[in-house]
Amino acid sequence: MREQAVGLVNKYLKSEHLIKHSYAVEAVMKALGNKLEPEKSDDWALAGLLHDLDSDMLDYKNNPEESKLHGIKTIELLKNEGFGNDYIYQAIKAHNEDNGTKRISTIDKAIYAADPITGFITAIALVYPDKKLSSVKVKSITKRMKELKFAAGANRDAMRSIEELGIPFAEFAQLSLEAMQGISDELGL
Ligand SMILES: [Fe+2]
Repeated sequence: MREQAVGLVNKYLKSEHLIKHSYAVEAVMKALGNKLEPEKSDDWALAGLLHDLDSDMLDYKNNPEESKLHGIKTIELLKNEGFGNDYIYQAIKAHNEDNGTKRISTIDKAIYAADPITGFITAIALVYPDKKLSSVKVKSITKRMKELKFAAGANRDAMRSIEELGIPFAEFAQLSLEAMQGISDELGL
């Protein structure tokens, strides 16, 4: 199942950074799933891996109208490929507020927070001379959260919303950091 999903990532995503981002969100979602819904953690990981599948087809960064399609288009691609299930589709749609999907289930809320924290942790790693995830500490993550000019694009409210699921932010930071450190070779960090 995962092998097939990796094939789809490589088929539809061409940007190196988006492919790495997909693996990072997969790792964080897998860890969150193991904690919150262990019986469904494979689906959690797949939702993370596939959540940005349409990103190289949409120019939603420059064209705000297209941001309404981000997520919706991914479901179309997955259905055409005969891959996934409604549980995964709903989470993928819910990670993007702009398409009007409400975050209802636990996985919806988790992916909304997991998406931005991967880029945020990457940005923190890149500050260190060795640019390695092994140099990052939980403390540096919680500190950088308050420096709003640092990685300004990383949505603090979205990351902090993990607390709605009963996970304190520092714990989420640690879980995410460890998940990303576990695939540091793939991430090149
Ligand atoms: Fe993403």
